[in-house]
Amino acid sequence: MSSPEIHLPQGYSLDTAPELEEIVGLLYCNVSDWVFRQHYTTRYRNERANHAQAGISFLSFGVRDVASSDLIGIGEIALQADHVGHLANLTVHPAHRRQGIGRCILDARVEEADRRGIALTTQLSYMNPMAKYYREIGFVGPMAPGSLLRRPARST
Ligand SMILES: CC(C)(COP(=O)(O)OP(=O)(O)OC[C@H]1O[C@@H](n2cnc3c(N)ncnc32)[C@H](O)[C@@H]1OP(=O)(O)O)[C@@H](O)C(=O)NCCC(=O)NCCS
Repeated sequence: MSSPEIHLPQGYSLDTAPELEEIVGLLYCNVSDWVFRQHYTTRYRNERANHAQAGISFLSFGVRDVASSDLIGIGEIALQADHVGHLANLTVHPAHRRQGIGRCILDARVEEADRRGIALTTQLSYMNPMAKYYREIGFVGPMAPGSLLRRPARST
């Protein structure tokens, strides 16, 4: 099994250090109410602190629109102490979908996992339209909504 190649469309750049506030802003970009936005930001920050206490750290892969420098895509790896990474929070802003950005964020995370020699898991959401692509890049498991997919660590 080889690592996928990353093909980011023109006009976009990869950012591996987006700010937490930007990530939350993108994940909840459909929430216009300021109070709820603050609530989500606080909740997310607390969750990160709880994860850190449990020995789980996050690697974030962002994509920026070069023209505006806005963060328009995000995907994370929750790195667990047992050298398994869980893919989380794959989101592309609705105005930038169907150009290959979601695929690129998935590929970037898989390539990083391969580089570190870690296995990956991810839970298939009920609406994830990319389900078939997970299979193409080596994830195994039942392709049913809600199921846990696994990709073994790459043997080098
Ligand atoms: C899922 C999501 C990240 C896809 O992002 P994207 O940048 O539009 O995805 P891509 O352009 O890389 O598409 C990759 C492949 O997924 C499939 N796909 C993506 N969106 C699709 C749609 N709306 N309908 C059907 N197939 C779709 C296609 O096979 C596509 O390849 P193709 O364009 O060559 O046919 C985006 O729709 C999103 O943010 N959705 C809301 C959050 C979500 O569901 N996240 C995933 C679960 S955590």
